[in-house]
Amino acid sequence: MGRLQGKAAIITGGASGIGMAAAQMFAAEGAAVAIADLDQQQASDAAARIQEAGGRAIGIAVDVMDEESLADLVNASVQEFGRLDVMCNHVGGSNPRKDLDVLRLDLEEFDRTMQLNVRSALLGCRLALPHLIDVGGGSIINTASVGGLAGDYMQVAYGTAKAAVIRMTQYVATQYGAQKVRCNAVAPGAVMTPALQNNLSAEAIDKIRSHNALPFIGEPEDIAAAMLFLASDESRYITGQTLVVDGGMTSHHAIAEDRRIQPD
Ligand SMILES: NC(=O)c1ccc[n+]([C@@H]2O[C@H](COP(=O)([O-])OP(=O)(O)OC[C@H]3O[C@@H](n4cnc5c(N)ncnc54)[C@H](O)[C@@H]3O)[C@@H](O)[C@H]2O)c1
Repeated sequence: MGRLQGKAAIITGGASGIGMAAAQMFAAEGAAVAIADLDQQQASDAAARIQEAGGRAIGIAVDVMDEESLADLVNASVQEFGRLDVMCNHVGGSNPRKDLDVLRLDLEEFDRTMQLNVRSALLGCRLALPHLIDVGGGSIINTASVGGLAGDYMQVAYGTAKAAVIRMTQYVATQYGAQKVRCNAVAPGAVMTPALQNNLSAEAIDKIRSHNALPFIGEPEDIAAAMLFLASDESRYITGQTLVVDGGMTSHHAIAEDRRIQPD
């Protein structure tokens, strides 16, 4: 029996990258999956590929910046599958050309970033909660980032927003644990997705890799596997946590690189 047999899930940003990998894994483990994305065509294509592989999925258009659109998504998914057990608030990001250091940050980009990452996840939780409570409990997974765990020289809006996602996750876990709703976050490090490849040069990606404890950059499936664990009943006693999946990028102090002794 699949690890998510009989469950229904929504994944926002499910048409690409990590979200798509999670949708495929969830479906392969028996879940019915609503792939929700700004890009309706890509969402439908991703759903079709799951159906071809024998899974159950639908593609739904959503703009997580818009509350009404998110409400329509949740309603459409519950109507289609009859229930909701897992809500993945996965969409996020910021524009690194505008999201700079504090002095040079574009304030409109700050507001947009908070809305895209924090407000959308809060709304996703709020809209999913009544349905999760209806089925006797469920799992919410918010996508954070290692950017939310420590400071950096750029992307202050993104880091601040992801830190808020991590804390908001604890509030939801605290407030709805009694109804058996679990709420956890995943904090990916660098992952080979279109978002990463579009925003960073090959040289910059290689630089990041050199700071991982493990000698490679993760694939979308590495994060999706953590999401699957948090979605499944295997994690039934885990809530309010942030699962860092970063190849060991944050396993060491910044000074560790300077102390590294090269083999002879
Ligand atoms: N890729 C990484 O290295 C990395 C690292 C840390 C955290 N993350 C987080 O993972 C999440 C997604 O990253 P990914 O790598 O899977 O990205 P991706 O670019 O591969 O996919 C993002 C998807 O979200 C959709 N989307 C964008 N804006 C939307 C909106 N307003 N409404 C609905 N859908 C929208 C896009 O159409 C796209 O399909 C984000 O929260 C990001 O911050 C990624």
